[in-house]
Amino acid sequence: MADMAADERLRVLVARRLFPEVVERLGAHFDVDYRESDEPAEPDVLAARLQGCAGALIAGTERIDAALLDACPGLRAVCSMAVGFNNIDVPACTAHGVLATNAPGVLTETTADFGFALMMATARRIAEGEHWLRAGKWTHWTVDLFAGSDVHGATLGILGMGRIGQAIARRGALGFGMKVAYHNRSRLPAADEAAVGARYLGLTDLLREADHLIIVVPYTPETHHLVGAAELALMKPTATLTNIARGGVVDDAALAEALRERRVAAAGLDVFEGEPSVHPALLQVPNVVLTPHIASASLPTRRAMANLAATNLIAALTGGTPPTPLNPQAAASRR
Ligand code: GLV
Repeated sequence: MADMAADERLRVLVARRLFPEVVERLGAHFDVDYRESDEPAEPDVLAARLQGCAGALIAGTERIDAALLDACPGLRAVCSMAVGFNNIDVPACTAHGVLATNAPGVLTETTADFGFALMMATARRIAEGEHWLRAGKWTHWTVDLFAGSDVHGATLGILGMGRIGQAIARRGALGFGMKVAYHNRSRLPAADEAAVGARYLGLTDLLREADHLIIVVPYTPETHHLVGAAELALMKPTATLTNIARGGVVDDAALAEALRERRVAAAGLDVFEGEPSVHPALLQVPNVVLTPHIASASLPTRRAMANLAATNLIAALTGGTPPTPLNPQAAASRR
């Protein structure tokens, strides 16, 4: 399509500031409307900017729903650089003949690294110790100074055993001699369980047995507050909880209360209900490590995510095969 005259080119929107080389890649194929902003595109802004556009490259922050699709009849493809797609109403996209894509695979190992790091920082009280040191409170050695819990040899509970959950399991089992237990909608094939010695448990048993629980499930109506007050009450008081999935999977108010009362020893949270706002009670408790939704944020991985979204968009609008479609039937129905 690069040889088309400029006025014959399809128009696409890049909804957020991205890596310049990714915008240039798109520019070789399309007339690009580049919204070079770090603010999420609100629905009215998005609808206005999408007029006349056949495609959009978005992040996990732009909402694609039936109202937006109704307002943008020329739209044929929406390509997100996130793996989570709770911001995209996929059935509505299909009904409107709009291909939707996400960005799985390229962020798996980076996100697993971060989940493991956050779990370790939580178990070993690294952030608490650092804040205390910076505050000038370190005057002498104490036998139990910031003594946390062990990671090696402990039971790692993984809630959500997709690509990222399995990558975390490998780190725990093979690197740290952890006993891996998991809960998932569907059980892994026996060979995959055996590779990391993973035991499948019901959610209740997983909550009861985990020394370190890591949450990696997609956010859907079924997983809203999957871990709330009743579930937290099942956990060991010595256990930690790490959430790198999505805000809303954990009931943040209930978690803050459990942390305050030390019914759960500590938590590591990269995602929050209503983020970038954080529940004020979470900011008041010391035994929580808080990070601003950065689990996939290594530069090489963020570049790979943006490039995968661009590859999907180019393929979707130039007769190619997008590598990671969410609703391949939408593309087929257009041909
Ligand atoms: C990040 O949260 C993603 O879904 O890619």
